Amino acid sequence: PIVRHYKWEVEYMFWSPDCVENVVMGINSQFPGPTIRANVGDTIIVEMINKLSTEGLVIHWHGILQKGTPWADGTASISQCATNSGETFIYRFVVDKAGTYFYHGHLGMQRAAGLYGSLIVDLEEGKKEPFHYDEDINLLLSDWWHKSIQKQEVGLSSNPMRWIGEPEAILINGRGQTNCSIAAKYNTSLKQCELKGDEQCAPFILQVKPNKTYRIRIASTTSLSALNFAIGNHQLLVVEADGNYVQPFLTSDIDIYSGESYSVLITTDQTPSENYWVSIGVRGRLPKTLSVLTLLNYLPNSVSKLPVSPPPETPDWEDYARSKNFTYRILAAMGSPKPPVKSNRRIFLLNTQNNVNGGFVKWAINNISLALPSTPYLAAMKIGINTTFDQNPPPETFPEDYDINNPPPNTNTKTGNGVYQYELGEIVDVILQNANTLNDKNSEIHPWHLHGHDFWVLGYGDGKFSAAMDEKKLNLKNPPLRNTVVIFPYGWTAIRFVADNPGVWPFHCHIEPHLHMGMGVVFAKGIHKVERIPTKALACGETAKVLINNPTKK
Ligand code: C2O
Repeated sequence: PIVRHYKWEVEYMFWSPDCVENVVMGINSQFPGPTIRANVGDTIIVEMINKLSTEGLVIHWHGILQKGTPWADGTASISQCATNSGETFIYRFVVDKAGTYFYHGHLGMQRAAGLYGSLIVDLEEGKKEPFHYDEDINLLLSDWWHKSIQKQEVGLSSNPMRWIGEPEAILINGRGQTNCSIAAKYNTSLKQCELKGDEQCAPFILQVKPNKTYRIRIASTTSLSALNFAIGNHQLLVVEADGNYVQPFLTSDIDIYSGESYSVLITTDQTPSENYWVSIGVRGRLPKTLSVLTLLNYLPNSVSKLPVSPPPETPDWEDYARSKNFTYRILAAMGSPKPPVKSNRRIFLLNTQNNVNGGFVKWAINNISLALPSTPYLAAMKIGINTTFDQNPPPETFPEDYDINNPPPNTNTKTGNGVYQYELGEIVDVILQNANTLNDKNSEIHPWHLHGHDFWVLGYGDGKFSAAMDEKKLNLKNPPLRNTVVIFPYGWTAIRFVADNPGVWPFHCHIEPHLHMGMGVVFAKGIHKVERIPTKALACGETAKVLINNPTKK
């Protein structure tokens, strides 16, 4: 294993992700940020320099477990103090599991401003994957708004709330098009994009040679959109999800929610003189955003040779049966770690939309909308300050007679910042329960992401979870390990994890505006085991005062 050292300057810059000039958060003048590629066991050091003139900064390494380094998880108000404008923070952590990951901002809505990039971990030198492929291709998916994140944030926290709306474009590796299509020839209502290929918005072309096998890595860091990915004429063999091997299965397309990653294998066995469409469209919300297209370019064909048939169509956005069917097919590969047969503790998390202070719209979990404290939890707990967040843990369940099929009877809720505390090593089940929003006959998909752990997905169901009916349906045989899982409208999802990683870890909806509106909870355990937290991660808010008065306390 080696140490990989990066020096990153983060700064706003002009960029045209969708052929319209705007401002993005760039890293070393790149958008998306540089790809980190490492081997299992390597140490990653990222020296992050905040060159934003007026904002704090953190970077979260999504899917990396941070064993022993919870302070490097990169969550503002949770694992560390945000790094001030002009200052530097040094992340240092080991990547201990192969897989397809990414990193992104985790303060306010900085992810939606374009602060993200890929993080790929290969097996140790000389070790082989349990499947064969010739080369890999990496795709990081995101969605893009012309409206700045400042405007988006102000809109979300105004009364009446102003929703961010649908994105102007879906991006593949930071590239997409607005107001024109590269496939206009099949649909005359669209304008043909005039691209030379060297523009910042020119499609990222997937170049392949005939009769080979490619591993396509696909990760989604969208702010909002659930996506569907398909390649014309080519079946996808799904082999990895969130850095874990799955039982391989063939499919014509995959759904991918924000926070998830997949690897699919394709064989380039189609007519070699043709190129094929790669199409990514929106699901789960009425799409007002065009699918983003690019080419699977069979070399040595010219990229100007358009495929003979039109691009694959994204399945109907509302066809939840189809989405469930895909999601339920994801199971652990043979030989994957199995879950403990019993849990020590089970908590239920009811997802609702509510109002606070007479009309501000929030999301709440068991009737509490998460509002992060100004002193990071990890620092406060380590130093032993009990005034910075609510010392009462939030409720572990919700009223049994709660009607999930209608808007909340009392729409009012409150904000809070209490923490679910676990014993180190405790085996925890979480049942995520979806419900109706504030609007009649409406319930949405939410991809929930856990920091610091993978969890087993024991099952899903429609309606309210019933211990009597659903308990025996849970899958303890081959549940997939993941770090992100969806709850479908009006449904429930059951997960199990071992709380064996000392630290403070958020568990939240990965939809950026939903998290911003309070849709998350915080888990903590084993803080006494956390050592060597850099002073810079601790030095803000109340903990800064303690450190100034008593510099040895750390
Ligand atoms: Cu990728 Cu807490 O997020």
